[in-house]
Amino acid sequence: MAAEVRASLSQRPLPSLPCKYFYDERGSALFDEITRLPEYYQTRTEETILEKIAGEVIDAVRPRELCELGSGTGRKIRLFLDAMASRGLLSRCVLLDISEEVLASSAERLAADYPGLSVRAVAGDFLEDLPALGPGGSRLALFLAGTVGNIHPDEVPAFLGSVARQLEPGDGFLVGLDLVKDPARLHAAYNDAAGVTAEFNRNVLRVVNDRLGADFDPEAFEHVAFYDAEAAWIEMRLRALRPLRVKVPAAGLDLAFRAGDEIRTEISCKYTRASFEALCAGTGLVLEGWYTDPDSLFASALLRRRTGGAEGPGRP
Ligand SMILES: C[S@@+](CC[C@H](N)C(=O)[O-])C[C@H]1O[C@@H](n2cnc3c(N)ncnc32)[C@H](O)[C@@H]1O
Repeated sequence: MAAEVRASLSQRPLPSLPCKYFYDERGSALFDEITRLPEYYQTRTEETILEKIAGEVIDAVRPRELCELGSGTGRKIRLFLDAMASRGLLSRCVLLDISEEVLASSAERLAADYPGLSVRAVAGDFLEDLPALGPGGSRLALFLAGTVGNIHPDEVPAFLGSVARQLEPGDGFLVGLDLVKDPARLHAAYNDAAGVTAEFNRNVLRVVNDRLGADFDPEAFEHVAFYDAEAAWIEMRLRALRPLRVKVPAAGLDLAFRAGDEIRTEISCKYTRASFEALCAGTGLVLEGWYTDPDSLFASALLRRRTGGAEGPGRP
Protein backbone atom coordinates (compact mmCIF):
# COMPACT_ATOMS: atom_id res chain seq x y z
CA MET A 1 0.00 0.00 0.00
CA ALA A 2 2.83 2.41 0.89
CA ALA A 3 4.42 1.96 -2.55
CA GLU A 4 1.09 2.36 -4.37
CA VAL A 5 0.17 5.48 -2.42
CA ARG A 6 3.62 6.95 -2.95
CA ALA A 7 3.37 6.39 -6.72
CA SER A 8 -0.20 7.63 -7.07
CA LEU A 9 0.17 10.72 -4.89
CA SER A 10 3.37 11.60 -6.78
CA GLN A 11 1.58 11.66 -10.17
CA ARG A 12 1.57 15.07 -11.88
CA PRO A 13 -0.31 17.10 -12.96
CA LEU A 14 -3.06 15.25 -11.06
CA PRO A 15 -2.16 13.16 -8.01
CA SER A 16 -4.49 10.25 -7.32
CA LEU A 17 -5.30 7.59 -4.72
CA PRO A 18 -6.38 4.02 -5.58
CA CYS A 19 -10.14 3.71 -5.06
CA LYS A 20 -9.83 0.29 -3.44
CA TYR A 21 -8.68 2.14 -0.30
CA PHE A 22 -12.14 3.63 0.27
CA TYR A 23 -13.22 0.34 1.76
CA ASP A 24 -12.21 -0.11 5.38
CA GLU A 25 -15.08 -1.01 7.72
CA ARG A 26 -16.34 2.59 7.79
CA GLY A 27 -16.00 2.99 4.00
CA SER A 28 -17.92 -0.23 3.38
CA ALA A 29 -20.69 0.95 5.73
CA LEU A 30 -20.79 4.30 3.92
CA PHE A 31 -21.04 2.52 0.56
CA ASP A 32 -23.94 0.51 1.95
CA GLU A 33 -25.61 3.78 2.94
CA ILE A 34 -25.03 5.13 -0.60
CA THR A 35 -26.86 2.13 -2.07
CA ARG A 36 -30.01 3.21 -0.17
CA LEU A 37 -29.92 6.89 -1.26
CA PRO A 38 -32.81 8.10 -3.44
CA GLU A 39 -30.36 9.51 -6.04
CA TYR A 40 -28.37 6.28 -6.30
CA TYR A 41 -30.46 4.35 -8.85
CA GLN A 42 -27.69 1.80 -9.56
CA THR A 43 -28.26 -0.71 -6.75
CA ARG A 44 -32.07 -0.75 -6.95
CA THR A 45 -31.96 -1.10 -10.73
CA GLU A 46 -29.36 -3.86 -10.75
CA GLU A 47 -31.28 -5.78 -8.08
CA THR A 48 -34.46 -5.61 -10.17
CA ILE A 49 -32.58 -6.99 -13.19
CA LEU A 50 -30.89 -9.74 -11.15
CA GLU A 51 -34.18 -10.82 -9.55
CA LYS A 52 -35.52 -11.39 -13.07
CA ILE A 53 -32.52 -13.14 -14.61
CA ALA A 54 -30.87 -15.16 -11.80
CA GLY A 55 -32.78 -18.36 -12.68
CA GLU A 56 -32.12 -17.97 -16.40
CA VAL A 57 -28.39 -17.39 -15.86
CA ILE A 58 -28.12 -20.41 -13.54
CA ASP A 59 -29.96 -22.55 -16.11
CA ALA A 60 -27.58 -21.40 -18.85
CA VAL A 61 -24.31 -21.94 -16.92
CA ARG A 62 -25.36 -24.78 -14.50
CA PRO A 63 -22.60 -23.78 -12.05
CA ARG A 64 -21.52 -25.79 -9.02
CA GLU A 65 -19.44 -22.87 -7.81
CA LEU A 66 -20.53 -19.29 -7.51
CA CYS A 67 -17.84 -16.71 -7.05
CA GLU A 68 -18.14 -12.96 -6.47
CA LEU A 69 -15.33 -10.48 -7.07
CA GLY A 70 -15.60 -7.40 -4.83
CA SER A 71 -18.37 -9.14 -2.90
CA GLY A 72 -18.93 -6.46 -0.22
CA THR A 73 -21.86 -7.37 2.02
CA GLY A 74 -22.74 -10.33 -0.25
CA ARG A 75 -26.42 -9.41 -0.50
CA LYS A 76 -26.99 -9.82 -4.25
CA ILE A 77 -25.22 -13.17 -4.42
CA ARG A 78 -28.14 -14.61 -2.44
CA LEU A 79 -30.40 -14.30 -5.47
CA PHE A 80 -28.09 -16.70 -7.31
CA LEU A 81 -27.61 -19.03 -4.33
CA ASP A 82 -31.41 -19.30 -4.02
CA ALA A 83 -31.71 -20.13 -7.72
CA MET A 84 -28.94 -22.77 -7.39
CA ALA A 85 -30.59 -24.25 -4.28
CA SER A 86 -33.96 -24.60 -5.98
CA ARG A 87 -32.26 -26.53 -8.80
CA GLY A 88 -30.27 -28.78 -6.47
CA LEU A 89 -27.00 -27.14 -7.58
CA LEU A 90 -25.98 -25.44 -4.33
CA SER A 91 -22.45 -26.52 -3.54
CA ARG A 92 -19.63 -23.98 -3.31
CA CYS A 93 -19.27 -20.24 -3.05
CA VAL A 94 -16.14 -18.06 -3.06
CA LEU A 95 -16.08 -14.41 -2.03
CA LEU A 96 -13.12 -12.22 -2.96
CA ASP A 97 -12.75 -8.72 -1.56
CA ILE A 98 -10.01 -6.32 -0.54
CA SER A 99 -11.80 -5.46 2.71
CA GLU A 100 -11.04 -8.25 5.18
CA GLU A 101 -13.51 -7.16 7.85
CA VAL A 102 -16.51 -7.08 5.51
CA LEU A 103 -15.39 -10.28 3.82
CA ALA A 104 -15.26 -12.26 7.07
CA SER A 105 -18.68 -11.14 8.26
CA SER A 106 -20.43 -11.72 4.93
CA ALA A 107 -18.84 -15.19 4.58
CA GLU A 108 -20.00 -16.09 8.10
CA ARG A 109 -23.55 -14.93 7.39
CA LEU A 110 -23.77 -16.87 4.12
CA ALA A 111 -22.46 -20.05 5.77
CA ALA A 112 -25.05 -19.69 8.54
CA ASP A 113 -27.95 -18.97 6.16
CA TYR A 114 -27.17 -21.69 3.58
CA PRO A 115 -26.50 -24.96 5.41
CA GLY A 116 -24.54 -27.35 3.22
CA LEU A 117 -22.92 -24.53 1.24
CA SER A 118 -19.13 -24.48 1.41
CA VAL A 119 -18.05 -20.83 1.67
CA ARG A 120 -14.48 -19.69 1.01
CA ALA A 121 -13.32 -16.13 1.63
CA VAL A 122 -10.32 -14.82 -0.31
CA ALA A 123 -8.89 -11.50 0.86
CA GLY A 124 -7.26 -9.95 -2.17
CA ASP A 125 -7.21 -7.55 -5.07
CA PHE A 126 -9.24 -8.56 -8.12
CA LEU A 127 -6.64 -6.90 -10.34
CA GLU A 128 -3.77 -8.99 -8.94
CA ASP A 129 -4.96 -12.01 -7.01
CA LEU A 130 -7.42 -13.90 -9.22
CA PRO A 131 -5.13 -16.98 -9.39
CA ALA A 132 -6.00 -17.46 -5.68
CA LEU A 133 -9.45 -18.56 -6.86
CA GLY A 134 -7.90 -21.78 -8.16
CA PRO A 135 -8.95 -23.72 -11.24
CA GLY A 136 -12.40 -23.07 -12.73
CA GLY A 137 -14.93 -25.51 -14.15
CA SER A 138 -18.69 -25.25 -13.52
CA ARG A 139 -18.02 -21.75 -12.24
CA LEU A 140 -20.15 -18.64 -12.46
CA ALA A 141 -18.29 -15.50 -11.43
CA LEU A 142 -20.14 -12.30 -10.58
CA PHE A 143 -18.77 -8.76 -10.75
CA LEU A 144 -21.64 -6.52 -9.77
CA ALA A 145 -22.50 -2.92 -8.90
CA GLY A 146 -20.72 -1.46 -11.91
CA THR A 147 -17.39 -1.97 -10.11
CA VAL A 148 -15.79 -2.76 -13.49
CA GLY A 149 -16.32 0.97 -14.17
CA ASN A 150 -13.61 1.75 -11.61
CA ILE A 151 -11.02 0.04 -13.82
CA HIS A 152 -9.52 2.31 -16.48
CA PRO A 153 -10.95 1.18 -19.86
CA ASP A 154 -7.40 0.65 -21.19
CA GLU A 155 -6.92 -1.97 -18.45
CA VAL A 156 -10.28 -3.73 -18.81
CA PRO A 157 -9.18 -6.16 -21.59
CA ALA A 158 -6.25 -7.37 -19.45
CA PHE A 159 -8.59 -7.74 -16.48
CA LEU A 160 -11.11 -9.73 -18.56
CA GLY A 161 -8.25 -11.89 -19.87
CA SER A 162 -7.18 -12.64 -16.28
CA VAL A 163 -10.77 -13.59 -15.38
CA ALA A 164 -10.94 -15.85 -18.47
CA ARG A 165 -7.83 -17.69 -17.25
CA GLN A 166 -9.70 -18.65 -14.06
CA LEU A 167 -12.59 -20.09 -16.05
CA GLU A 168 -13.07 -23.20 -18.15
CA PRO A 169 -14.95 -23.24 -21.47
CA GLY A 170 -18.65 -22.72 -20.79
CA ASP A 171 -18.10 -21.02 -17.41
CA GLY A 172 -19.85 -17.66 -17.00
CA PHE A 173 -18.93 -14.16 -15.89
CA LEU A 174 -21.81 -11.82 -15.10
CA VAL A 175 -20.78 -8.17 -15.10
CA GLY A 176 -22.89 -5.23 -13.87
CA LEU A 177 -22.49 -2.08 -15.95
CA ASP A 178 -23.73 1.42 -15.33
CA LEU A 179 -24.89 2.76 -18.71
CA VAL A 180 -24.28 6.07 -20.47
CA LYS A 181 -27.24 8.35 -19.71
CA ASP A 182 -28.38 11.89 -19.02
CA PRO A 183 -25.41 13.58 -17.27
CA ALA A 184 -27.79 15.31 -14.83
CA ARG A 185 -28.90 11.93 -13.51
CA LEU A 186 -25.28 10.82 -13.10
CA HIS A 187 -24.33 14.09 -11.45
CA ALA A 188 -27.13 13.71 -8.89
CA ALA A 189 -26.12 10.11 -8.11
CA TYR A 190 -22.57 11.15 -7.19
CA ASN A 191 -23.49 14.43 -5.45
CA ASP A 192 -26.28 13.27 -3.13
CA ALA A 193 -28.08 15.85 -1.04
CA ALA A 194 -27.28 14.06 2.24
CA GLY A 195 -23.52 14.25 1.56
CA VAL A 196 -22.91 10.52 2.06
CA THR A 197 -20.84 10.21 -1.14
CA ALA A 198 -18.75 13.18 0.02
CA GLU A 199 -18.05 11.39 3.32
CA PHE A 200 -17.26 8.17 1.45
CA ASN A 201 -14.84 10.11 -0.78
CA ARG A 202 -13.04 11.71 2.20
CA ASN A 203 -12.82 8.28 3.86
CA VAL A 204 -9.88 7.37 1.62
CA LEU A 205 -7.85 10.02 3.48
CA ARG A 206 -8.80 8.49 6.84
CA VAL A 207 -7.67 5.07 5.56
CA VAL A 208 -4.30 6.53 4.45
CA ASN A 209 -4.01 8.19 7.88
CA ASP A 210 -4.81 4.94 9.74
CA ARG A 211 -2.65 2.61 7.67
CA LEU A 212 0.29 4.79 6.69
CA GLY A 213 0.43 7.23 9.62
CA ALA A 214 -0.46 10.22 7.39
CA ASP A 215 -1.86 13.47 8.80
CA PHE A 216 -4.48 14.41 6.19
CA ASP A 217 -7.25 16.59 7.65
CA PRO A 218 -10.23 15.10 5.74
CA GLU A 219 -12.35 18.16 6.54
CA ALA A 220 -9.85 20.36 4.70
CA PHE A 221 -10.91 18.70 1.43
CA GLU A 222 -14.18 19.10 -0.43
CA HIS A 223 -15.87 16.42 -2.49
CA VAL A 224 -15.94 16.98 -6.26
CA ALA A 225 -17.73 14.67 -8.74
CA PHE A 226 -18.37 15.49 -12.39
CA TYR A 227 -19.18 13.69 -15.64
CA ASP A 228 -16.52 13.75 -18.34
CA ALA A 229 -18.59 13.12 -21.47
CA GLU A 230 -15.59 12.49 -23.71
CA ALA A 231 -14.19 9.77 -21.48
CA ALA A 232 -17.74 8.61 -20.54
CA TRP A 233 -16.85 8.47 -16.86
CA ILE A 234 -17.70 10.12 -13.59
CA GLU A 235 -14.60 11.37 -11.89
CA MET A 236 -14.39 11.89 -8.14
CA ARG A 237 -11.80 14.18 -6.68
CA LEU A 238 -10.90 15.77 -3.35
CA ARG A 239 -10.10 19.49 -3.53
CA ALA A 240 -8.00 21.24 -0.88
CA LEU A 241 -9.95 24.10 0.69
CA ARG A 242 -6.80 25.83 1.99
CA PRO A 243 -3.02 25.50 1.71
CA LEU A 244 -1.87 22.37 3.52
CA ARG A 245 1.22 20.33 4.25
CA VAL A 246 0.65 16.62 4.61
CA LYS A 247 3.14 13.97 5.69
CA VAL A 248 2.69 10.31 4.75
CA PRO A 249 5.58 8.82 6.75
CA ALA A 250 5.23 5.17 5.64
CA ALA A 251 5.29 6.33 2.00
CA GLY A 252 8.13 8.81 2.59
CA LEU A 253 6.02 11.74 1.36
CA ASP A 254 5.89 15.36 2.49
CA LEU A 255 3.27 17.03 0.30
CA ALA A 256 2.30 20.67 -0.18
CA PHE A 257 -1.23 21.47 -1.37
CA ARG A 258 -2.38 24.92 -2.49
CA ALA A 259 -6.03 25.85 -2.07
CA GLY A 260 -7.84 24.32 -5.07
CA ASP A 261 -5.32 21.51 -5.66
CA GLU A 262 -7.04 18.20 -6.35
CA ILE A 263 -6.51 14.46 -5.87
CA ARG A 264 -8.34 12.06 -8.17
CA THR A 265 -9.92 9.30 -6.07
CA GLU A 266 -12.13 7.37 -8.49
CA ILE A 267 -13.29 7.02 -12.04
CA SER A 268 -16.59 5.28 -12.74
CA CYS A 269 -16.92 4.47 -16.43
CA LYS A 270 -20.32 4.39 -18.08
CA TYR A 271 -20.81 1.91 -20.91
CA THR A 272 -23.01 1.09 -23.87
CA ARG A 273 -23.39 -2.45 -25.16
CA ALA A 274 -21.06 -1.60 -28.06
CA SER A 275 -18.36 0.11 -25.97
CA PHE A 276 -18.25 -2.80 -23.49
CA GLU A 277 -18.37 -5.52 -26.14
CA ALA A 278 -15.42 -3.86 -27.89
CA LEU A 279 -13.34 -4.34 -24.71
CA CYS A 280 -14.16 -8.07 -24.64
CA ALA A 281 -12.58 -8.74 -28.04
CA GLY A 282 -9.64 -11.15 -27.82
CA THR A 283 -9.98 -11.72 -24.07
CA GLY A 284 -11.35 -15.27 -24.28
CA LEU A 285 -14.75 -14.03 -23.04
CA VAL A 286 -17.71 -13.59 -25.36
CA LEU A 287 -20.82 -11.51 -24.70
CA GLU A 288 -23.73 -13.91 -24.68
CA GLY A 289 -26.51 -12.11 -22.81
CA TRP A 290 -27.38 -8.45 -22.29
CA TYR A 291 -30.10 -7.65 -19.77
CA THR A 292 -31.25 -4.16 -18.93
CA ASP A 293 -34.10 -2.28 -17.20
CA PRO A 294 -36.91 -0.52 -19.12
CA ASP A 295 -35.15 2.87 -18.77
CA SER A 296 -31.75 1.49 -19.85
CA LEU A 297 -30.05 2.81 -16.72
CA PHE A 298 -28.03 -0.30 -15.90
CA ALA A 299 -27.11 -3.59 -17.59
CA SER A 300 -26.04 -7.08 -16.62
CA ALA A 301 -23.77 -8.59 -19.26
CA LEU A 302 -23.36 -12.36 -19.32
CA LEU A 303 -19.97 -13.31 -20.72
CA ARG A 304 -19.00 -16.92 -21.42
CA ARG A 305 -15.53 -18.35 -21.62
CA ARG A 306 -15.20 -19.47 -25.18
CA THR A 307 -13.81 -22.83 -26.19
CA GLY A 308 -10.25 -22.74 -27.41
CA GLY A 309 -8.37 -20.87 -24.71
CA ALA A 310 -8.16 -17.52 -23.01
CA GLU A 311 -5.84 -15.57 -25.20
CA GLY A 312 -6.38 -12.18 -23.60
CA PRO A 313 -3.50 -9.89 -22.92
CA GLY A 314 -1.83 -10.54 -19.56
CA ARG A 315 -1.12 -7.89 -16.99
CA PRO A 316 2.43 -6.63 -17.28
C1 LIG B 1 -19.07 -0.92 -5.24
S1 LIG B 1 -18.80 -2.11 -3.99
C2 LIG B 1 -19.85 -3.45 -4.54
C3 LIG B 1 -20.22 -4.42 -3.44
C4 LIG B 1 -21.20 -5.53 -3.87
N1 LIG B 1 -20.61 -6.40 -4.87
C5 LIG B 1 -22.50 -4.98 -4.42
O1 LIG B 1 -22.85 -5.34 -5.54
O2 LIG B 1 -23.15 -4.21 -3.71
C6 LIG B 1 -17.19 -2.64 -4.44
C7 LIG B 1 -16.62 -3.77 -3.58
O3 LIG B 1 -15.39 -4.18 -4.18
C8 LIG B 1 -14.35 -4.17 -3.21
N2 LIG B 1 -13.15 -3.75 -3.94
C9 LIG B 1 -12.86 -2.52 -4.46
N3 LIG B 1 -11.68 -2.55 -5.13
C10 LIG B 1 -11.23 -3.83 -5.01
C11 LIG B 1 -10.08 -4.51 -5.51
N4 LIG B 1 -9.17 -3.87 -6.26
N5 LIG B 1 -9.95 -5.83 -5.23
C12 LIG B 1 -10.88 -6.49 -4.48
N6 LIG B 1 -11.98 -5.91 -3.99
C13 LIG B 1 -12.16 -4.60 -4.25
C14 LIG B 1 -14.78 -3.22 -2.12
O4 LIG B 1 -14.21 -3.55 -0.88
C15 LIG B 1 -16.30 -3.37 -2.16
O5 LIG B 1 -16.73 -4.38 -1.29
